[in-house]
Amino acid sequence: TTDDEHECFVGSIDQGTTSSRFIIFNGEGTLITSHQIEFDNLYPQPGWHEHDPIELFTSVEECIEGAMQKFGDLGHSRAKIRSIGITNQRETTVVWDKNTGEPLYNAVVWPDTRTGAIVRDLKTRDGADTIIELCGLPLSTYPSSVKLLWLIENVEAVKQAYEESRLAFGTVDSWLIYKLNGGAQTKNPVHVTDSTNASRTMFMNLRTLQYDNTLLKFFGIDRTKVHLPKIVPSSDAECFGKVAAGALAGAPIAGCLGDQSAALVGQCAFNPGQAKNTYGTGCFLLYNVGTEPVISQSGLLATVAYDLGHGRKPVYALEGSIAVAGAGVKFLTNNLGFAETSSGLTDLAESVEDNGGVFFVTAFSGLFAPYWIDDAKGTLFGMTQHTNKGHIARATLEATCYQTKAILDAMEKDSGKKLERLAVDGGLSNSDLCMQTQADVSGITVDRPAMRETTALGAAIAAGLATGVWRELEDLRGVHDVTGRSKFEPRMERKKAQKLFKKWEQAVEMSRGWVNE
Ligand code: G3P
Repeated sequence: TTDDEHECFVGSIDQGTTSSRFIIFNGEGTLITSHQIEFDNLYPQPGWHEHDPIELFTSVEECIEGAMQKFGDLGHSRAKIRSIGITNQRETTVVWDKNTGEPLYNAVVWPDTRTGAIVRDLKTRDGADTIIELCGLPLSTYPSSVKLLWLIENVEAVKQAYEESRLAFGTVDSWLIYKLNGGAQTKNPVHVTDSTNASRTMFMNLRTLQYDNTLLKFFGIDRTKVHLPKIVPSSDAECFGKVAAGALAGAPIAGCLGDQSAALVGQCAFNPGQAKNTYGTGCFLLYNVGTEPVISQSGLLATVAYDLGHGRKPVYALEGSIAVAGAGVKFLTNNLGFAETSSGLTDLAESVEDNGGVFFVTAFSGLFAPYWIDDAKGTLFGMTQHTNKGHIARATLEATCYQTKAILDAMEKDSGKKLERLAVDGGLSNSDLCMQTQADVSGITVDRPAMRETTALGAAIAAGLATGVWRELEDLRGVHDVTGRSKFEPRMERKKAQKLFKKWEQAVEMSRGWVNE
């Protein structure tokens, strides 16, 4: 074995929208090994988006086994893994029978828009305008609350479980923690969530970090009939339990963060005024506002950024959420056959000099921040006989950059400060073209670290802080080596950038009003 006595490692489960991963880091935050599995995304009807909860869990189990095998091959023993963290796609809603542990329906995934009619109805209720003050989120199809309402109203098995008070609700973190601990088979099943994930449900009060009766009442949820996960801090050695079986049996689960929060932690953006933008399936910009939440007046969300416990105050963020980033690339490859792979698609985008006048509002799930247009649909503008696949590929990448620019403008309004540097990560951040476009469109420096697995690192940090791998946030300053960072400075003339952005805004206006009856 190559283990030295003092060496220790932290594992990180990253359960995302399109794949699951298990990544192992050492005490310097260096990635040692990983394993990744893609699973099925189900689109049973237009606007519907589901995952099989069992497959989510088995994909995680397989990733753990795969990465542990590689870890062993490198000469390391299981005993050196001090703890593991979990990070996950947020808002996605899982319901199961509390007695049997069996899922009662597929997971309803965060971009799913089947809840459109429920949202329209909720907007007419008393208090609809003020709940944002309590939970930080505007009413839309995005949060878990409306997904749970739909399930109770439309799925017989869920309705019955609710009536019989055996309905268990959770976001993906809760489901995985429950299953990893052994689920219904254990004497005391672990049913918890951390405050970053809970802040995406609309059931939690942002200031108390506990469920709020006004919010539950607004949604008509009877707490005696549904088992909500207990809300705990994101970093803790006790309350998430231990892995029950498999290659990691006995390992403490000590960290849990929604994936966007984890990326902020993984970027070490611990100071108010720092921000990160993660280009994954969607794209999410989080701006650290410090220890008091800021309720947006400009279409952003207020959310818990991280809550690292042990006497540390919770930290909040303003968030700009974009539903489609990498999902747009997948749409062009999988649905329209533009290229075989994502990198083939970025090559296609690079084959043209500019977008040729084409703008693509990729509003497949309505349009999120800062617009919040639930009835927007994907809309392609500006095509002529000159248009080719390259222009459409380019317009698809640019869509995320324009929406990010609109979010940055909203953030400037809410915070009164202009962001000078945008830290980036996630799959699409690997595209130099996309990052240069981002710098050009928004007029700020885009800063990309060498180690881009920041989401997984963030969950590892939460777990490592709870189990003595790191003691203070200060200990983490070295994890991002300055070498290997790439900076993208704005090169486009400001006037030209503004003109292009105006066209994007015009296209956004045109994408409204496509309600499916
Ligand atoms: O809010 C949804 C978000 O957590 C999903 O993240 O990485 O799958 O785009 P991602």
